[in-house]
Amino acid sequence: MTLPAPRPAVADPARSQALRAASEFAADVRAGLTRAPQKELPSKYLYDEVGSALFEVITVLPEYGVTRSEERLLTRYAAEIVEALPSDVKVAELGSGSGRKTRRILEALCRKRPTSYCPIEISRSALQLCRRELADIERISIVGYERDYLAGLSEVSRQRKPGEQLFVLFLGSTIGNFARLAATRFLRDIRAMLRPGDTLLLGTDLVKPVDTLIAAYDDAIGATAAFNLNLLARINRELDANFDLHDFEHVARFNPDVRSIEMHLRAKRDVRAEVNAAGLSVEIGAGETIWTESSHKYHADEIPAIAADAGFRCARQWVEKEWGFAESLLEVK
Ligand code: AVJ
Repeated sequence: MTLPAPRPAVADPARSQALRAASEFAADVRAGLTRAPQKELPSKYLYDEVGSALFEVITVLPEYGVTRSEERLLTRYAAEIVEALPSDVKVAELGSGSGRKTRRILEALCRKRPTSYCPIEISRSALQLCRRELADIERISIVGYERDYLAGLSEVSRQRKPGEQLFVLFLGSTIGNFARLAATRFLRDIRAMLRPGDTLLLGTDLVKPVDTLIAAYDDAIGATAAFNLNLLARINRELDANFDLHDFEHVARFNPDVRSIEMHLRAKRDVRAEVNAAGLSVEIGAGETIWTESSHKYHADEIPAIAADAGFRCARQWVEKEWGFAESLLEVK
């Protein structure tokens, strides 16, 4: 008698990857919503397809000067930045977003020689957007990585050709989402994957008056509020939960101790909800908040010290003064 061959436990790698991602999301939501005294959710989950689209809206709001400021810098100084780099670079970008602000740099590089560009993104929709946005650049070759930053970077680093130096882009002030010490640790982790001669271009939003910051994170048409609330909607959609979004309001506040803008979701009344896929029943008291994001603001002259702490040397810095944003070119020490 012949038995049918046992079916492999993992038949479809894409499906098993999706299942892994879902259970990681469930575990993170469970951990964050049972934390005391402050409930929190990791900000990386703000960027599903809806969240990424809402963030694109945020970048063009009159109150949110961050993206335009960085675009002005990169447009004005692309040639100078590229001049400061080794001649043969492979570009890796951590969190490419739409790719729009990277265009100037890539055009300047590709004018000199054919260049390969590896966007690393956890958001599939952002990755697709950026591929579409940049594909027309002459002599570019784009290979996207749908991965966490560090896992993606180590893969890109391993796949470089002999003589190729890595040029890592970490733009948009995404570094601001890390707590200060965690930011240094993250830069150290990046450094560990690099070699002498490799470089990192780091974008940081700068400290500015509190009312300007609050307006940037609590805009008049409510786009940032929708971006924040979508995190609960996403939990409803993906983790079979039953949050009523009307029970929550968006809050943006400045924390002067660490110079960060915090986004919270505040319960307007006592709330009870089930997150079925996380096996969780959660109670949130009226006035209690879920902390969803921090956006740390820096002084331009803090960056060299932070870089040195992480094993880099700050070789150049470009500052945009109209809004207040810095681009720092860090070299592996
Ligand atoms: C994409 C992380 C840079 O912190 O300013 C915008 C995200 N959150 N409005 C930021 C965000 C609310 C943004 N980063």
